[in-house]
Amino acid sequence: MIDFKEVLAKSISKEIDLSLDRIKENIEVPKDSLMGDFAFPCFVLAKELKQNPALIASNLKQKLEMNEELKEYVETIETVGGFLNFKLNNNLIIRELINEFDLKKENYGKSTSNNNKTVVIDYSSPNIAKEFHIGHLKNTIIGHSLYNVYKFLGYNTIGINHLGDYGTQFAKLIEGYKRWENEYDFSKEPISKMADMYVRINRLCEEDENVLEECRNTFKKLEEGDSYCVQIWHKFKDLSVKEFNEIYNLLGIKFDSMNGEAFYSDKMQEVIDILNKNNKLTESQGAKVVDLSDKGIETPCIIQKANGSSIYATRDLAAILYRVRTYDFDKCLYVVGIEQSLHFKQIFEVAKYLDIDKKYTDGLEHVSYGMIRLPEGKMSSRKGNFVTAKSLINETLDSVNEIMKERDLENKEKIAMQIALSAIIFNNLSDNRVKDSVFNLEQALNFNGETGPYLQYMCVRAKSVLENANYVPNVEKVDIEEINNAESIQIVK
Ligand code: ARG
Repeated sequence: MIDFKEVLAKSISKEIDLSLDRIKENIEVPKDSLMGDFAFPCFVLAKELKQNPALIASNLKQKLEMNEELKEYVETIETVGGFLNFKLNNNLIIRELINEFDLKKENYGKSTSNNNKTVVIDYSSPNIAKEFHIGHLKNTIIGHSLYNVYKFLGYNTIGINHLGDYGTQFAKLIEGYKRWENEYDFSKEPISKMADMYVRINRLCEEDENVLEECRNTFKKLEEGDSYCVQIWHKFKDLSVKEFNEIYNLLGIKFDSMNGEAFYSDKMQEVIDILNKNNKLTESQGAKVVDLSDKGIETPCIIQKANGSSIYATRDLAAILYRVRTYDFDKCLYVVGIEQSLHFKQIFEVAKYLDIDKKYTDGLEHVSYGMIRLPEGKMSSRKGNFVTAKSLINETLDSVNEIMKERDLENKEKIAMQIALSAIIFNNLSDNRVKDSVFNLEQALNFNGETGPYLQYMCVRAKSVLENANYVPNVEKVDIEEINNAESIQIVK
């Protein structure tokens, strides 16, 4: 692609005594596009040349108009006040654009200039043995889009599913499993079975102190690597991931790493040691905490509970150390709900005490998002007070099938699914990211609104128009003058 700014700057530099870089710095795009495509303010020169800007502009205009080479690129040069305004050769811009499309095709706009940069994106990250709900869906869609965009821009991109697979609740599940394994068929919808089992064992714990004590022991065993406990924990994890994968496969998502919280269970001591060495740990009601009040964060970050066990934050800190060393990232993004803002503020501050380069702590960023709800009274398959991703997808699919009922199409099932997913994906991305939002099914499926199905419809129509016109995007076959009108040229530019 021709660098028009560079062409202009070079021509100007032949006429005046100013470095190419200074000229380029000063060339600007006029706010009002009617004024031209580029403008060069002559005020910069006025002092040095001891002339008034308007005079410099008109002299420069005269000289540039004599430049034969420049005529190919520039249609008109006007002086307005102390500015030189340039209108570029529209036909040339159109030719360039079509050529570029033709050459790059689906890689149009792709960049390689970030090849030396790495971005880690922590997204989706559901808790195992718990339902994957529409909040996780929003998270996954946003995270995956970021992943795609960074990849397209040339970054070395690492997608991490930081599974919530650690905690006392798994010890409780193991105790439930021990008791009632035979009562549940885990081959179908295993997560809802595990959720049921969890509710049941919790109830038992409330009724019977001894059971609670057993659960505590089991957690200790799990942490110490007891083979039975670890085996059952693996089973819960595998069953959960299998169910999560159904959604990921539908959305075309793969992760580069599935290292969840449990992966860091043997990597947390180092965090405690470094914080200790740096005198950052203080005692508070038996717990070890990092005080952050001098950072404007009133709530201290708990690193170790009074009973000696670690918490979510400690594992996230161990994960930061691991990611620094393993990926040497430039950015590490956390796509996580806005309700965890305090958590991320805390760990990003504590990370500064972990003896890692400032480059890394500067690269940490919480990409938050608001809650997604359904309109009151909608959706039959509510579970508790949330809606599972699966039921949302099914409900949307039903509506699409209803709309498509009369149509006689090949691949109808596949198309219906593509439309349903596009409605959901587009809706999740087009809403304000941070504000809470309501998923309105009728609206998301509107073929005339700003929706996924509308985009698909327009794409299909555009393609068939091109097909009918026998259009091959080859610059020699396009009537450039047809495109060179006020409306089209805006789009081209
Ligand atoms: N599992 C957590 C949850 O469901 C989200 C984890 C986000 N990632 C992280 N590195 N903390 O709330």
